[in-house]
Amino acid sequence: MNVFKESNIGNLTTVNKLVSQPMEGNDAVDGGKPSERTIDRYNRLAHGNWGVVIVEAISVVDTSLARINGLILNEKNLDDFKRLVDEFKKINNETVLLFQVTHTGMKSGNFSEKVTLCPGQSSEYRYLSTDDIEEIKQSFINAILLAEKVGADGIDLKMCHGYFGAEMLRPMNTRNDKWGGSFENRTQFLSEIIPEIKSKLKNQNFILGSRISMYEAIRGGCGTNTPDEITEDLTEQGKIIELMSSLGMDYVNVSAGIPGVTSEITRPTNGSKNLYLNHFRYTKYAKEILEKINSEMKVIGSAYSILKEDAVNYANENIKKNYTDFAGFGRMSFSDPLYPKKLMDNEKTNYCNVCSGCSKLMVKQLNTGCIIYDDYYKKLISG
Ligand SMILES: Cc1cc2nc3c(=O)[nH]c(=O)nc-3n(C[C@H](O)[C@H](O)[C@H](O)COP(=O)(O)O)c2cc1C
Repeated sequence: MNVFKESNIGNLTTVNKLVSQPMEGNDAVDGGKPSERTIDRYNRLAHGNWGVVIVEAISVVDTSLARINGLILNEKNLDDFKRLVDEFKKINNETVLLFQVTHTGMKSGNFSEKVTLCPGQSSEYRYLSTDDIEEIKQSFINAILLAEKVGADGIDLKMCHGYFGAEMLRPMNTRNDKWGGSFENRTQFLSEIIPEIKSKLKNQNFILGSRISMYEAIRGGCGTNTPDEITEDLTEQGKIIELMSSLGMDYVNVSAGIPGVTSEITRPTNGSKNLYLNHFRYTKYAKEILEKINSEMKVIGSAYSILKEDAVNYANENIKKNYTDFAGFGRMSFSDPLYPKKLMDNEKTNYCNVCSGCSKLMVKQLNTGCIIYDDYYKKLISG
């Protein structure tokens, strides 16, 4: 099967085309350090022979967090992140290991500072000044350089799911400073941060990619064409993908929706199963854009878990038809971290049963994982 064949992202080879998408475990300790539980989760993924593993959302600041036990990438936590990478690489040195870096913006929890960059939001959110945004940009740059320092193979810049990065890109971002209004201003963050990082990285093979929501399904959100429009128009998202390519980025990780607001669009459930088709359409669109400009940038798709046993065939078909380069699994990487290895070895797999148990744990701010196949999380949800 094509999906089990090697590929590449940037200058790195991937052993197959299966991606473990970022999944927050909410189990950091002592101010955002990976705990034993965090390290154990990634060790299990290391045994799974994924082409790429993207470590869950890691905050670049300690002031705004979505999860009470969220990971934070700073100097203080460096040794612990290094341990995570070292242990992973000791088990499996072939899987490409990326860190997702984020600022939680409006999606920060009540226990931290909720901030917004779009004008006209409720007073619950502190409005970020031009300088605040510059400072956040520097925090991203620092964190990305720390990711390089601890040995990650690259990063996934989170510009999806309603977090700071997504808010920046929205037509609803009508700020009248350099960060808002025109398309050029709303993408300024991206076009400033990438060259600056590139000039500072020592590892020339370090992967730079970003996860974007093609359509957020809110008025003025990503994937609409004006601040007061709600229907989908992918034109701007296409332009963002072109921009990413022209900046020399290595991949776009295609997602959609805003968890907690338009959750089913991000992660279809049994009652909304067919929404996975939107994700297929979005990667196909991204591929068409990149083909047109002869770009080498790769496309990663999302939301395959709902397809259970059929997922691998759909992934294979989409790759064969050139509708995506990689297939990404979120919940499935929780239910069975060994999924790719088991598929290749023809072993019985713990398919995600799409019960939303992991999401419920996350919303309750508890350690998050699969409540069906892992007794620790099963007990947490029931008790
Ligand atoms: C519990 C949970 C945690 C998640 N954490 C992240 C995250 O840290 N970063 C991210 O970009 N997406 C996150 N997601 C979204 C997933 O990566 C994925 O896009 C979504 O679950 C749909 O894919 P699936 O159908 O394969 O699960 C999370 C989803 C769930 C359910």
